[in-house]
Amino acid sequence: SDPDLVARATAAKAALGDRVFVLGHHYQRDEVIQFADVTGDSFKLAREAAARPDAEFIIFCGVHFMAESADILTGPGQRVVLPDLAAGCSMADMAVLGQVEAAWDEFTDLGIADDIVPVTYMNSSADIKGFVGRNEGVVCTSSNAKRALTWAFERGQKVFFLPDQHLGRNTAVLEMGLTLDDCVLWDPHKPHGGLTPEQLREAKMILWRGHCSVHGRFTLDSVREVRERVPGVRVLVHPECRHEVVRAADEVGSTEYIIKALDAAPAGSSWAVGTELNLVRRMALAHPDKQIMFLDRAVCYCSTMNRIDLPHLVWSLEELVAGRVPNQISVDADTAKYARVALDQMLALP
Ligand code: 13P
Ligand code: SF4
Repeated sequence: SDPDLVARATAAKAALGDRVFVLGHHYQRDEVIQFADVTGDSFKLAREAAARPDAEFIIFCGVHFMAESADILTGPGQRVVLPDLAAGCSMADMAVLGQVEAAWDEFTDLGIADDIVPVTYMNSSADIKGFVGRNEGVVCTSSNAKRALTWAFERGQKVFFLPDQHLGRNTAVLEMGLTLDDCVLWDPHKPHGGLTPEQLREAKMILWRGHCSVHGRFTLDSVREVRERVPGVRVLVHPECRHEVVRAADEVGSTEYIIKALDAAPAGSSWAVGTELNLVRRMALAHPDKQIMFLDRAVCYCSTMNRIDLPHLVWSLEELVAGRVPNQISVDADTAKYARVALDQMLALP
């Protein structure tokens, strides 16, 4: 990275001292990760944000929904900064509050809402987390989805899972013993979600039609191709991948799981990894004694994660030094109150 920008970031960070804490998601660029006080997946970063009551400013190097969660979990005097406001998440954008409330109204009209526990993936807006908190549900991440679903099924007969159909389906079918027929897909762009009342009454999992544009690109062909090309390769994927890809893989887990699995892998082993490319590249560099490759032939970064670059980080730090708070992420009090209920419920999962 540009030595001038590195020097400016170093100086600004030193000037702020303990007043600033920088969180970096594993999918961030190397030039940004080098300045993170803590790196992690979305679950770990949410906990880290909540555990830093002394930091006046949290700079969140990640995407918008993560910064919102950090704002909700931090104290009133703390301010959360997202270095580029255009760092959103296409998956989170696939569930809009009005659409979700309209679906819930239909469940109410059908008389099934009382049997349903809503569960939202961390990768959703604060509005959606607020909806889930109001309706006595829980947030989950890719590291605790099974625990969240177990909790939900102890409280209701059905789960309404937002917004990632793949994490919902993969967890339900591969970890909870449900069948594909137990899951139905609610499409917010079709009348009645594209489902009949009968299908809704019989379903155990009502999955929102959302997906990750990065992980959704891996296909069964990517898995077959790498197995042919690299004999003995182990395929390791994130649960945001499509169901058939996860089924064909050898291991599945959150970004934190993927890192631990690669760290623990024996020297000389080969791995094809189905997750975001910044992380896969960093793992390959960190382990030159192992063959770590990207699962697909095509290059695939998360374009919104990549919006946070060193120039944006330097700008954010220097603004703070100058006494201004740039790009503050602030969730309104009512939304934050209910979103916090659903987030706290996640943090309290057994
Ligand atoms: P985790 O950080 O929970 O593994 O989620 C991956 C992701 O897509 C974050 O945007
Ligand atoms: Fe959203 Fe996927 Fe990017 Fe994560 S990797 S921020 S889920 S688009």
